[in-house]
Parts: sequence; C-alpha cells; structure tokens
Amino acid sequence: MGGKKKTFTFQRFSRKQLKILTWWRGTSPYAAFDGVIADGAIRSGKTVSMSLSFMMWAMSQFREANFAICGKTIGALRRNVITPLKQMMPALRCECVDKRAENLLVVRRNGVANYFYLFGGKDEGSQDLIQGITLAGAFFDEVALMPQSFVNQATARCSVDGAKWWFNCNPEGPFHWFKTEWIDRVKERGLLYLHFDMCDNETLSPKTLARYRAMYTGVFERRFIRGEWAAADGVIYSMFDPGRHIKADLPFAPEREFVAVDYGTYNPCVFLHFFACGQGETTRYFVDREYYFSGRGGEEKEHRTIQKDDGQYAADMLAFCGGRKDLPVIVDPSASSLMTRLRHEGFTQVLPARNAVAKGIAAVSAALAGDRLSFSPDCRYTLRELPSYVWDVKAAAKCGQDKPLKENDHCCDALRYGVYFDSLVNVSSRPSVSGHGAR
Ligand SMILES: Nc1ncnc2c1ncn2[C@@H]1O[C@H](COP(=O)(O)OP(=O)(O)OP(=O)(O)O)[C@@H](O)[C@H]1O
Ligand SMILES: [Mg+2]
Repeated sequence: MGGKKKTFTFQRFSRKQLKILTWWRGTSPYAAFDGVIADGAIRSGKTVSMSLSFMMWAMSQFREANFAICGKTIGALRRNVITPLKQMMPALRCECVDKRAENLLVVRRNGVANYFYLFGGKDEGSQDLIQGITLAGAFFDEVALMPQSFVNQATARCSVDGAKWWFNCNPEGPFHWFKTEWIDRVKERGLLYLHFDMCDNETLSPKTLARYRAMYTGVFERRFIRGEWAAADGVIYSMFDPGRHIKADLPFAPEREFVAVDYGTYNPCVFLHFFACGQGETTRYFVDREYYFSGRGGEEKEHRTIQKDDGQYAADMLAFCGGRKDLPVIVDPSASSLMTRLRHEGFTQVLPARNAVAKGIAAVSAALAGDRLSFSPDCRYTLRELPSYVWDVKAAAKCGQDKPLKENDHCCDALRYGVYFDSLVNVSSRPSVSGHGAR
C-alpha cells in the first residue's frame, strides 16, 4: 500500500478527557484505583481519550508486558480504536508494529517493548484465546456490547502487579449486566467512574451536535444522547401518529424501491413494498403495499387453516412485484429456504436482512420521528400492528436485553428489516457512529 502515514490531529481536551488522561498518574488521588469506567453519550470523546491514556499508562509503567485491547469484534476494534491509536504513535513517541495475522501490536519506546493483543469479545473463540495469557491491563471499548463471560474471562487474566481495567460504553437498559455488576459496584470494586455527555467532546460543532440529536428519539435519545441507562418499556413506536404518517399518495419522487419480508409458515408471512429517496439520515420511505398471509387463519376467511410452501410464497412474491424479478428482496435472515427458492425462481437480488433488533428499531423510530417514513392506508395490517408493538419488559428484567414482545410483530419485523437494511446500504452522508446506527 505505502503512502504517507496519517497522524492524529489532537484538539483541546475537555476537563473530563483530562481526567481520563491523568487519573492513574502518581500525583492523582485515584492512582491506587484498579481501573476506570467511562460511560455516556455517543461521540462524547471517550474512546479517543481512553485509548491514548491506556497507551501512555502501559508504556510508562511496564516493560515486556502483555495487554488486551478488546472491542465488540476485531473489525469494530480496528475501525474505532486501532486505526486512530496507530495515528497517535508519533505523538506518543512510540513505534508500533502491527502483526495483523496474530492480531498483535508490538509497541516500543526508548528500547522498551510491550505487547497489545487484540480481541473481539463477540468473535468466535475469543474466550479460548484469552484463556492462557497473563495481562498487565485490559482495555474494553464498547464493553456493553460484549458477552459478560468474555469480560469476566479477560478481567481475571489481569494478574500482574499494578494491573488495571479500562472500560467504556454507551448505556443500554438498567438491567444490563455491565450496569448491575460493574457500574453499580464501582466503589467495592475500587474503580473510578466518569460519566460523559456530548459537551465533554469540545470538537463537535453545534451543527454536528444538532444532527446527532435528530438521529434518536424515545429510549434511544435517553441512552445515546443523554447517556442514561434507560429502560425500554411501553409502546415502541410511540411517535407513530396516523394523521402524520398515513399518506394517500407517494409524498416524494422515488429513487429506488425494494421489498422486505418477514417469513412464517404457521405464523403470518409479510411482504412490504417500499419506495425510497435520499441517503443517510435524510432518507425518506413510503410503504405503499403489503402482503399478509396467515396460515393460522384469523379474521381473513380466505386464509383459514391453509399453509403455503416456499414455492407458493415465491409465486405470490412474483405477483406482488408485478412480475419484476430485479427488485431487491430483503428477507428475514432465518428464512434460508425461502431465499433459496426465490433465487431459484430467478429473483436476482435476494438479500438477507440484518437482524440487529435494537438498531433496526432505532432506524425506524428516527424515520418516523423525522416524518421520513409514511404508509399508504392500504397497509391495513401494518397500520394495526404499529401502535401495538411493545417492549417485552419481563425479558428485559430477566436477562437485561431489549426485545419487542413477540406478538403481532410480523409487519413491524418486515418494516425494520427494510428500513435498517436500506440505511446501511445508503450511508454516504451518514456520520459513522460507533456502537449504533450505521455500524
Ligand atoms: N481532544 C480531541 N482531539 C481531536 N479529536 C477528538 C478529541 N476528542 C474527541 N475527538 C473526536 O470526536 C469524535 C468522537 O470521539 P470518540 O470516538 O472518542 O467518542 P466516543 O465517546 O467513544 O463515542 P461513541 O460512544 O460513539 O463510541 C472522534 O472523531 C474523535 O476523534
Ligand atoms: Mg467510542
């Protein structure tokens, strides 16, 4: 590849960031603490300050020691942490050799070397890999997105004298394990806790701040903008308003169209047809038609007790698409048999949907809140489901995970498959937000 290496341009650090940068120093009242947690709003300057501080601490306190740098996946870690960190090496007066095949950074300063092993907490086998090493420190970027078992495993490997733990994340629900096991117990665990909001990143312009704020509503606004560990309860699309979101005619000049599918044989099967225009957070969507078939029957007399197989669904899809086999069809990722069948029937763009539930719901919520998503009155089932799509509060209390109640959720699933998939593909003007949104 070659070319000049980019160096990181630092701007003024905020007071919070300076605290992250200095808490471990001999002169700090927190020097004896076993670690630090920074949580809070997106883009608030946590990762930049923490990765810089972690590297300064490691290189000044240890030699020939091993460290772990962990992200949700190796890919996310390299994008969000390692790329900027390597650009900071000249400022740190360090040299870094990236042994990509081993996921190892060897960092040297003044003849002292330390070894930084990269881990993706969610990657297959990461727990086995971290099992054998002895660590002098571990840095967890986006820790709330990692499995608890991986974090327990990694923290337990930090057995060198003076070892410290470094965590950062955005909030999830109040029953999330990182909240209850770590943040609620910082005192007994001897950890410094710092809460960030967007003003703690002084590099964000008022315009950028306003743009981020417009991206989230409801519980996501409370978490990602206000930085609260807020519960997801009640109606999911509380911003849905028939007066605003039902339109008799296509409200914009469409640039593309696609179909999204939630699949069921015994449960209902739904196809939604979308028109869309624009890119990034200004994209507009109009759902003009739906197909709803329930093998279980229900109030639709013609649907009673019959079940359809993939071949019949493929025929229905062809009719729904007006004979066009070139429309992108975004399918429930678990419905591999239907995808195979559609491809076999000659559909040229059969694509598995991304089933990141919370991110899909956040994308739909933002589009509704911004009046960028509307429906034809013909979408009867979808319009009936939208106000009754609710969070499963019991599941959240039990396992700390946010899920919609699995009831009358079929049109809503197809809706989030369509909107979220399109938002990932048409990202050119979207800011890259780590941890949510476009990632
Ligand atoms: N002192 C600084 N100098 C230069 N750039 C900075 C500084 N502080 C923050 N930034 C920039 O602001 C952006 C957001 O910072 P960062 O990624 O650290 O936030 P974050 O809190 O980790 O966000 P998220 O929760 O979304 O991961 C980044 O592009 C980062 O490079
Ligand atoms: Mg970050």
